[in-house]
Amino acid sequence: MDLSSASDKPIIIAIDGFSGCGKSTLAKDLAIALGYIHIDSGSLYRSVTVDFIKRGIDVTHKESVEIALSNIDLHLALINCASNPILNGVNISEEIKSPEVAQLVSEVAALPEVRAFLIEKQRHFGKSKAVIMDGRDIGTAIFPEAELKLFIIADMEIRVNRRLKELKDKGIDVTREEVADNLEKRDRIDSSREFSPLRQANDAIVLDTSTLSREQQLQKALEIVMGVVNGKT
Ligand code: DC
Repeated sequence: MDLSSASDKPIIIAIDGFSGCGKSTLAKDLAIALGYIHIDSGSLYRSVTVDFIKRGIDVTHKESVEIALSNIDLHLALINCASNPILNGVNISEEIKSPEVAQLVSEVAALPEVRAFLIEKQRHFGKSKAVIMDGRDIGTAIFPEAELKLFIIADMEIRVNRRLKELKDKGIDVTREEVADNLEKRDRIDSSREFSPLRQANDAIVLDTSTLSREQQLQKALEIVMGVVNGKT
């Protein structure tokens, strides 16, 4: 497949969906294939969560949250076209994946102060196009003007298997039940919160990854991307 027109006519690709559907993996693979940058917006919510845990912030206390946010030094550094969260000068790419962070992140992400704090950090990356950002509200709130919006879905059992393997590969000891409970809890909070809940944008294209290999997902997504790029005037 000739992908050159994707760099000649760079676009913004928004990828949304529930946890564990394969958004980040697909976004990463697409970015490498297209020569775009990949921004994992979940890493920002996870980074704020790491900071709150370290400082012992009570996430139900609005004032404590506001003070904590005014003291956070957080940005994303691009390393090999992928975003790495830097908190107070330290790359915390691995720390953000801990079960402790996964347990609290949806509650932190539901806070309007946190969402407002992170909006500009995300939109900044859209200025030069050629960006793929994955998350929950990218196509609906961060880049509603994105040329392509993908909404990724997968069966719950598949999602649990993928997340379990990912954690085990990292040497993190969790049970299947713990992973399933965490995914269900996050689905519930992420889609029912008041501010920027997870929902499919009206103009999003749904991609079901349940029965697709990583390579097949990439091929399908590339066909969709090139259809959009080549159909563009
Ligand atoms: O994609 P992830 O599992 O790393 O995301 C972690 C949490 O961050 C997720 O449970 C919801 C929240 N999130 C969000 O609210 N909005 C985004 N754009 C990305 C993530």
